[in-house]
Amino acid sequence: EFLLIFFYIFQVGIICGSGLGDSLSKTFNCSRTTNRENAKNDFGYPSSDLYHGCIDGVDIVLLARHGAGHVFSPTLVNYRANIEALRLAKCTHILASTACGSLTESIARGQLVVPDSFIDRTTFRKGTFYDGTSAKYSGVCHLPMEPAFDPRTSEILLQAAKKLGYNIRKGGTIITIEGPRFSSKAESNALRLWGGHLVNMTICPEVFLAKEAGILYAAIAMATDYDCWRECEDNVHAADVLVVFKQNVDKITNVLLEAVKLIDCGDWEQDIFKLKNLIESSNVTVKK
Ligand code: ADE
Repeated sequence: EFLLIFFYIFQVGIICGSGLGDSLSKTFNCSRTTNRENAKNDFGYPSSDLYHGCIDGVDIVLLARHGAGHVFSPTLVNYRANIEALRLAKCTHILASTACGSLTESIARGQLVVPDSFIDRTTFRKGTFYDGTSAKYSGVCHLPMEPAFDPRTSEILLQAAKKLGYNIRKGGTIITIEGPRFSSKAESNALRLWGGHLVNMTICPEVFLAKEAGILYAAIAMATDYDCWRECEDNVHAADVLVVFKQNVDKITNVLLEAVKLIDCGDWEQDIFKLKNLIESSNVTVKK
């Protein structure tokens, strides 16, 4: 156990959101693939094959959130199987990308944001591993959600973007709606009143499942549109989301590349240990 802790190896899982997929496996020198069948776990099949790569000596595992060819709608993504597959692949960190609508004037199209809190407005998703599906997650676990995203890993994303000279916003509340439809104008204005800065369809339950799994999770969000709250503006349309994302996709790729290198420079044992302790102490079931 001592030796294991001493030689802790970091492995970074990267969850690729809409618009970020095939190109990334080349960028990250992915030479090995675990197919979906082999990555099947207690929670089912992950969205895509796992692509294993290496950047400057850091092992990475790529997963396409919506599957090859974007076949899974936000509701039908098997978030639990995705996170569990990355955990079983020994990921200590997850960096996730997501396209979002901006809910505020101060976040322009193409702007990068590292969110620091969320509001979960999803309705049809499994939001915990602790429901008796797997013996690995037994009992009742009430995890605190502050901080929602791992602060140190989030800081790495910010540092990486700054190093590259990109304009990136530190912090912001991301609201996840069920989708697949976008919000009505009244809903969009309600989300603004709640203090949301961004709206998307996938960060929840991913962010809190990763926490339950003991993985340090941070997200890099890109605003692709102004949803539909803004007067005299083009309202959000799926095609435009992908166009704006593609126009700015190199920024996300470069930030991820740089972030992986920065993660390698860090000492993470304490952070991982602390999260494992938090998970254990949050489990209220009396052990027999
Ligand atoms: N993803 C990108 N833009 C979005 C929006 N306006 N609402 C929800 N999810 C989004």
